[in-house]
Amino acid sequence: MKTIIFAHRGASKEAPENTMPAFELGYEQGAQGIETDVQLTKDRVPVLIHDEKINRTSNYKGYVKDFTYQELSQLDFGSWHSSKYKGASIITLDSFLEWAQHKSLLINIELKTNVLEYEGIEEIVLDRINHYDMFNRTVCSSFNPNTIKRLHHLDPRLEIALLTKQKLKNLDSTLHKIGSRAFHTKYRNLSESLVKACKSHKIPLRIYTVNNPAHMIRCFHLGVTGIFTDLPALALEYKKIVEETNHS
Ligand code: G3P
Repeated sequence: MKTIIFAHRGASKEAPENTMPAFELGYEQGAQGIETDVQLTKDRVPVLIHDEKINRTSNYKGYVKDFTYQELSQLDFGSWHSSKYKGASIITLDSFLEWAQHKSLLINIELKTNVLEYEGIEEIVLDRINHYDMFNRTVCSSFNPNTIKRLHHLDPRLEIALLTKQKLKNLDSTLHKIGSRAFHTKYRNLSESLVKACKSHKIPLRIYTVNNPAHMIRCFHLGVTGIFTDLPALALEYKKIVEETNHS
């Protein structure tokens, strides 16, 4: 099986994570998928940001949930990365989906409900996915099993992935119980037996965050469904080498 390369928060090594420049760069480099994170503002606008606070990735401080979208849109989400990206803005889930809609991209939206619950975020995200007709190429993921259950309840046809840093026992039944069809886990949990178990139960297995070339090569050899990487251009280079070696 050919592994799909997801640009993790966009091409987030070379451009500020979860901003338009990072998504555009990932797409230009040839990533087949984009991974991003969603949280809600004070006025319940879904915005793309990994942390609950804006401290690390903007020129201001505080929780996303305490600002309106209008307030956040005035801030600089690029300078922390490099002066080249000074003035990059936070973007809404809507802007992102509108941008992705006419590109052949798979999307992974991680609902960041592991620290704050953001009541109703599952309905909002699903509604926006449907609005942009992206249902068939979007995977929603979360570290929070309640979010997985709520998403599954809202639409059992949606591909939902449980995210976990831990090794899981009884993978198939654990995922099945909460309505998760796919499994997203850390590279350190990757093993041949995990790949085999996922394949035998038809569970898509995607691995994060794979930035080391030796780790990329192992993922490609094992045939995992997807990897999340901050360096999509590098991953695509190694993927090509592995594919050429397999065919020679
Ligand atoms: O979704 C894959 C990966 O992004 C999960 O970890 O901490 O980056 O949200 P984290």
